[in-house]
Amino acid sequence: MLAELERLYQQALSELDAVTDAQALQAWRVRHLGRKAPLMQAFGRMREVPAEERPRVGRRINELRDALQQAYEAKAEALRQAELARALQEERLDVTLPGRPRPYGRLHPTTRTIREIVRIFQSMGFQVFTSREVETDEYNFQLLNIPPHHPARDMQDTFYVATPGVQADETPPVVLRTHTSPGQIHAMRRYAAQDPDNPPPIRVVLPGMVFRYEQITTRSEIQFTQVEGLAVGRHITFSDLKGTLTEWARRMFGPQVRTRFRPSYFPFTEPSVEMDVECFLCGGQGCPVCKYTGWLEVLGAGMVHPVVLRNGGYDPERYSGFAFGMGPERITMLRHGIQDIRHFWRNDARFLEQF
Ligand code: PHE
Repeated sequence: MLAELERLYQQALSELDAVTDAQALQAWRVRHLGRKAPLMQAFGRMREVPAEERPRVGRRINELRDALQQAYEAKAEALRQAELARALQEERLDVTLPGRPRPYGRLHPTTRTIREIVRIFQSMGFQVFTSREVETDEYNFQLLNIPPHHPARDMQDTFYVATPGVQADETPPVVLRTHTSPGQIHAMRRYAAQDPDNPPPIRVVLPGMVFRYEQITTRSEIQFTQVEGLAVGRHITFSDLKGTLTEWARRMFGPQVRTRFRPSYFPFTEPSVEMDVECFLCGGQGCPVCKYTGWLEVLGAGMVHPVVLRNGGYDPERYSGFAFGMGPERITMLRHGIQDIRHFWRNDARFLEQF
């Protein structure tokens, strides 16, 4: 029996010598150390051994099993080392090679400008209010004090939305909004609904897309964005308008920038103004961008017209407010000296990559 055990042991060792990979090693382990391995089965055959020899044989089986277990572990470690050496050799990494650049996305220049504008007003306590791009003629015009045949409609040529099979004069006309100003009515009505007798004060900015049925040129597009602003409350005056917009211009264009207000006309504000900022390209000296005037027009504004306040649910005897509207594309063009507004929709990576 002892001689047989020695033979099994030697056999296992020589087989282990021939093992060269992890898979073969596991097979070897099952064969020689597993439950059905001949050496392990030897325990069950102790009955064949004369009683006085059993302790010696038993001890020897244990010794051989432990020796095989150790040989197995040594082999496993040797295989790991060999694999590591191979990997270091074959999968060598050249750390001096240049990295692989990853292309990364960026925001559209208009989006960046809108976010900048909105962030400044948010820091002054304005909230963002968004409303729909498709409006009724009533919201886009009439509630803003622009009646059906008012000449001011010519300022904003309009896309009408047709309902197939329905005569245009049978349904209230639906339009793509020509400006974000209808959002003023939506905002006022939403706030006024909270407490119709004592409507709460409002400070909102309304960024969004607008549409005009115009010839596309280097200076005008049929689709562009606006950021509208509206403040309504007790005792809001024209100096609040001037102070708010002047502070916005300083934060947007730099603390030194000068502003000026010129009288203008919008049906939904009275009085109405346009705000210019000193040309930041030439510092007011005169250049092609400011057409040698030294000033750049950046927005329209005014005190909310009493009719508009009333349409929004605010009693013009008790409340006043100011509103403004600006064009992010135009501001982006001025800041970066972009000559052609059509770049904004051209989706040309050579343009977009610069922002
Ligand atoms: N809605 C005007 C436009 O599109 C801008 C404006 C908004 C003017 C609010 C005054 C007050 O030209």
